Amino acid sequence: MSSLSFFLAWFAAPAQVGAVMPSSEALADAITAEISPASAPVIELGPGTGVVTGALLRRGVPEERLALVELTAKFARRLEARFPAAHVLNMDATRLRDVELFAGQPAGAVVSGLPLVLMPLWDVLAVLQSAFHHLAPDGCFYQFTYRFGPPIPRSILARLDLEAVRIGGTFANVPPASVYRIVRRR
Ligand SMILES: C[S@@+](CC[C@H](N)C(=O)[O-])C[C@H]1O[C@@H](n2cnc3c(N)ncnc32)[C@H](O)[C@@H]1O
Repeated sequence: MSSLSFFLAWFAAPAQVGAVMPSSEALADAITAEISPASAPVIELGPGTGVVTGALLRRGVPEERLALVELTAKFARRLEARFPAAHVLNMDATRLRDVELFAGQPAGAVVSGLPLVLMPLWDVLAVLQSAFHHLAPDGCFYQFTYRFGPPIPRSILARLDLEAVRIGGTFANVPPASVYRIVRRR
């Protein structure tokens, strides 16, 4: 998908798409840095054009062990065509808790490109509750953000007993971005 069509998708729904350009390969590498074949199955939230999906495959996650949860129908259709073995769900990630994935097998990682900082707090809460419902006890939630500081308010982290740690970032993205790992507090 071209940067122009991504921009047009942003123009049609800026708060939903959350960025004017697709993620760069550098950001895709940064957010998947800790992913390995052992992370499978993996859930990706807001895969958009599939830049991060491509990086997940390069990290060794088999395509059929990927669930791609994308709200924008145009992006979801293109993901189905590009990654035919992946499980593409054209739905709102806040409702993922009600969906069975991978025959009930817990995911090792959730990788999110959702524009969490633009979402209402109750939606952020629902996204995290859904994600951790599907994650294994030691599973990790990865999120990139364009802002300084964690992408999730401290009140929500405390309420769900989670902790967020910055694990990387890149200036080679428009705009520059940081990557956070969010895990259950031990
Ligand atoms: C910042 S873009 C991610 C871009 C992606 N990394 C790429 O390079 O194409 C955010 C994505 O999240 C999707 N999205 C936004 N809200 C969503 C929701 N509630 N559930 C699922 N996907 C959502 C948007 O449609 C968009 O594809």
